[in-house]
Amino acid sequence: MSVWRIQGGYPLEGTMTIQGAKNAVLPVLAATVLTGCETELTNVPALRDVEASLNILRWLGCQVQRQGDVVRVDSRNAGRSDIPAALMREMRSSVIFLGAVLGRFGAASLSLPGGCELGPRPIDLHLAAMERLGARVECEDGEIRAAAPVLRGAVIGLPLPSVGATENAMIAACAAKGTTVITGAAREPEIVELQGFLRAMGADMDGAGTGTITVRGFEPRQRVGWRVMPDRIAAATVLCACACAGGDVELRGADPAHFVCVTDTLAAMGAEMTVKSRRVRIRCREELTGGQTIITRPYPGFPTDAQPLMMAASLKAAGRTVFVENIFSGRYRQAEQLRRLGADIRVAGRMASVTGVQTLRGARLRAEDLRGGASLIIAALGAEGESAVIDTAGHVERGYDGLDAALAALGAHIDRSEN
Ligand code: EPZ
Repeated sequence: MSVWRIQGGYPLEGTMTIQGAKNAVLPVLAATVLTGCETELTNVPALRDVEASLNILRWLGCQVQRQGDVVRVDSRNAGRSDIPAALMREMRSSVIFLGAVLGRFGAASLSLPGGCELGPRPIDLHLAAMERLGARVECEDGEIRAAAPVLRGAVIGLPLPSVGATENAMIAACAAKGTTVITGAAREPEIVELQGFLRAMGADMDGAGTGTITVRGFEPRQRVGWRVMPDRIAAATVLCACACAGGDVELRGADPAHFVCVTDTLAAMGAEMTVKSRRVRIRCREELTGGQTIITRPYPGFPTDAQPLMMAASLKAAGRTVFVENIFSGRYRQAEQLRRLGADIRVAGRMASVTGVQTLRGARLRAEDLRGGASLIIAALGAEGESAVIDTAGHVERGYDGLDAALAALGAHIDRSEN
């Protein structure tokens, strides 16, 4: 269990380099087992979800080494095609190993990742994509069994742009004979990143970032090197923290094109934003103004992961800020906790309405999911007095690498202890 103690009321000042992206490195790590090769990844963030992925790779028979932000995976001797429930449970998105294991071994058995704090996490689109490639898929008692002596290229039409299903389809399609076309694909920057990595592994693939991805073939390379992209949601987290606590912060390394919805929204709320190719600066000298309607959509729409973060940034913004959450049903869990700080939030189904208040007062809060936990930390920075964010399941450490130290370096009075 982690306890984050925060003394609010101190503006954030300084510069910060953004960590490697959680939602980019997880599918890349899964893909390393697609063929027998030696991979070296750099800028790998220190996250619980990364550790969970490395443990799965070790279980499958890979040699895995980690030194600082460098991870080396030697998958030449991998030999297992099953992932036990205990390892699958360690990470919400462990289903991302399905395509790589099936593509490598012609079979895969893993347990359903189950629901999570955000609500049900169905994987029907993942399984349908594997079946389109010729796999026989059975699902019973929470276990998935897929078998495909041979995978054959196919047209995979995704009825909704699922990030994970797109990634599983891209990875498995590399092992298929013939061409695969994925239509209705997710367009997130992490999809483009995965295409880059699979190309580095030897894939003949293009279209990532558009709705249609084509995989023509795969000539595996023996040695692969890759640097993980910066985390656009970690960037949004620090920007929203500065919007809530005030100050002047410059982010380095992140590509602002990946989170333009967030920077545009903060600018519309009155933050002074300076956006350059790999630098974003935010200055907030006085309270922001509300009036925005923030509707989460698949990329390039406003990212669902940044909705709780922007909600925290809007708590003291004069006027009303309206949120519409279209991706996950359980994405307003932080509202009840934010009210303990004195926030005025009304939730009705997929809509939430925030009316800005003059003052937030420190309180004892409970983190119940990754981005919801981050939103509590952001709000506590902008509250008067001391707050404690109790994170019994270590949700925040799943996605943030040293967030406490990074915020402290910017002037926040924050201390995280492990109990
Ligand atoms: C990825 O989750 C991210 N996780 C999430 O980030 C992110 O919120 C989400 O994409 C949306 O951008 C990783 O990349 C590891 P989806 P994923 O499949 O792939 C429905 C965070 O905080 N759906 O795009 O699981 C699903 O219920 C995490 O970093 C199906 O119906 O998301 C949801 O409503 C949280 N059937 C919608 O699609 C399926 O088979 C989008 O889900 C799959 C998904």
